Amino acid sequence: TLTIGILIIAGYLLGSIPSAVWIGKWFYHTDVREHGSHNAGATNTLRVLGRRAALPVFVIDAAKGYAAVMLSHFAELEGDALFFLKIGLTAAAILGHIFPLFAGFKGGKGVATMAGCMLAIAPVPMLLGLATFIVVLAATHYVSLGSMTGGVLFPVYIILIDGFHSPYKIGFGVFVAVVLLITHRKNIQRLRAGTENKTYLFLKRPK
Ligand code: G3P
Repeated sequence: TLTIGILIIAGYLLGSIPSAVWIGKWFYHTDVREHGSHNAGATNTLRVLGRRAALPVFVIDAAKGYAAVMLSHFAELEGDALFFLKIGLTAAAILGHIFPLFAGFKGGKGVATMAGCMLAIAPVPMLLGLATFIVVLAATHYVSLGSMTGGVLFPVYIILIDGFHSPYKIGFGVFVAVVLLITHRKNIQRLRAGTENKTYLFLKRPK
């Protein structure tokens, strides 16, 4: 149990690495939380600072989620116990990302970090969720809508791939969906009001 406690704390600290805040401050003298959607994530970094800044933010945030789940291998667990630890580490990393110790507890929405955790726990459903994200983003130009659609369909994809044989994995999928809906509640308000920002990855915004 001591090991597990230490691993959970390490997961939180990994999640707390505020890549969007640090890259913005170190290389652009800008706190992305003061601009755009005020979110410390890859999307808002793209919006405020551009692709060169946003790509490393996405990669670092996804990697820290993946790494947090991988910490589970330091515990000598197997079966359901190992799976529960992976879910605990996901929760710890996401908590760290949303409430980062190293950035005044004001972080992001957990999309990239969650993607890293999902890749480590359920890679095929994660890739289906990623494909969903890309399709929705390409069709609507709303990153938030893509994130939420990918997240909500993730548990459905788990059922499609594994059937109902792994209820804990389905539980993990539902956890992902619920967390992403909660962190996007302001985006949901903006989408309903028609005021959500559109994101264009490669094309210039049409006039
Ligand atoms: O990166 C999270 C994304 O789903 C929404 O970000 O900045 O548009 O609120 P943002």
